[in-house]
Amino acid sequence: MTNVLELRNIVKTFPGVKALDGMKLELRKGELLAVCGENGAGKSTLMKIVTGVYKPDSGEMLLNGEPIHIKHPSDAYGKGIAIIYQETSLFPELTVLENLFMGHEATKRKFGLSFIDHEKMRQTALDIFGKLGVEIDLDGKVGKFGVATKQMIEIAKALTYDAKILILDEPTASLTSREVTALFDTIKRIKAEGVSMVYISHRLEEIFLIANRVTVIRDGGYVATADTKDVDSKQLVSWMIGRELSDLYSKTAIKPGAEVLSVENLNQGETLRDISFTLRKGEIVGLSGLAGSGRTELAHALCGLSEADSGAIRLEGREIAVGNYHEAIRQGIVYVSEDRKANGLITQMTIRENMTLSILDKLSGWTGIRFKWEGELVEAYTGRLKIKAASSATVLNNLSGGNQQKVSVAKALVAEPRILILDEPTRGVDVGAKSEIHKIIDELVHRDLAILMISSDLPEILGMSDRIYVMKEGRIAGELSREEASQEKILTLAL
Ligand SMILES: Nc1ncnc2c1ncn2[C@@H]1O[C@H](COP(=O)(O)OP(=O)(O)OP(=O)(O)O)[C@@H](O)[C@H]1O
Ligand SMILES: [Mg+2]
Repeated sequence: MTNVLELRNIVKTFPGVKALDGMKLELRKGELLAVCGENGAGKSTLMKIVTGVYKPDSGEMLLNGEPIHIKHPSDAYGKGIAIIYQETSLFPELTVLENLFMGHEATKRKFGLSFIDHEKMRQTALDIFGKLGVEIDLDGKVGKFGVATKQMIEIAKALTYDAKILILDEPTASLTSREVTALFDTIKRIKAEGVSMVYISHRLEEIFLIANRVTVIRDGGYVATADTKDVDSKQLVSWMIGRELSDLYSKTAIKPGAEVLSVENLNQGETLRDISFTLRKGEIVGLSGLAGSGRTELAHALCGLSEADSGAIRLEGREIAVGNYHEAIRQGIVYVSEDRKANGLITQMTIRENMTLSILDKLSGWTGIRFKWEGELVEAYTGRLKIKAASSATVLNNLSGGNQQKVSVAKALVAEPRILILDEPTRGVDVGAKSEIHKIIDELVHRDLAILMISSDLPEILGMSDRIYVMKEGRIAGELSREEASQEKILTLAL
């Protein structure tokens, strides 16, 4: 079997971190190869080497059996290798068509001169989107589309370069289940055209659904490769973390205490309509629903990031006005955003600084910051969540995506608020750390905290929640107890 791409003995170090240590990979023609490993294992770094973003310290790379050197991302495009990142690099102000051919416009010659061939570009774009099974307005500005559509545009763009190898780095992390289905349909179509793909994801069920083979990486080193039909998720997890993971969800039974939050008839334009619900001490309440159903908007209204038009929010029976986020924190309501970059983390600052940002007042004693205690606290969370970094003085920009997410969650857990609102807390987090986050959440509610958890991950919602509210079009469409809740019941309410 020919390998379209082969990596041998790749080594890459960053200051203080050996990101890749003798990693290898073989991609066969026309296959979909999944790559999995814990947060910080080196997956994204490996792909950045393939696409010329980083230069390896040593190692070999072969394309169709021939050694190659990729010095720059444009080199990779020229050789038919394209990568789709989670955050797209499209220009929001330009149209779909302009984005597709940016920097490599089709041309035609007339009277000995070269002209941009608009008709040809339009036709090529139509053909490509046709193949992808996507209907789109080629003249629409990219900025108005959601993540899923932007991803399709990125894929189409890769195909305008006639990509033969397509790399997808956690493409489904921010997609809803319906969008994932559409993406998988597109992936199947591209595969049928003979494109070989590398697929990175922490969602193991996806790997079994669409991958032919899977390669596992641990601490920058190669562990194993197998046909997906020959392995199960237990095996994959043990390869990934080097041991077996016993219990995935560790919720223990708890008797909820007094009501701590009650929301009455909250309204906000078209996004929130007549929302009423309660939260009790010791409870984990799940908030489910499709993307756009108002879950995040509700969280924002509760923690002062937006203002409701009418309705009441009561904290322990007392009506509160949460005008801004700082006020919410003062009242004991802490929010972990789904978009860790937009609010929450300061990526130029260190792990330690970020984690203790919201408890600086608690840390300040008579003699200034109590560094010893701060250090112990940071150590404890870094250890439990296995945050992979050279030290707690590493700036967040140098952490892998999943490790940044862990810091974001740790920062909120450290604060030990009265009410914790978690928005997609384990997005992009590996299975081991995910179960550790669940354990910590479980411990916190035993200390009388109340948690409202938004998650698109249905097993997570079902596994962790005492009660579940399902939202639809800005309203609460229904409430389910832990005992009666099921995937089907949630979906029925959500759709
Ligand atoms: N630019 C950089 N500077 C310093 N260290 C880096 C840099 N990029 C990555 N690293 C480190 O290299 C290691 C591998 O990171 P990488 O992003 O490849 O992990 P990953 O497997 O993609 O993880 P995740 O699942 O969280 O995305 C991590 O320890 C990370 O902190
Ligand atoms: Mg990564």
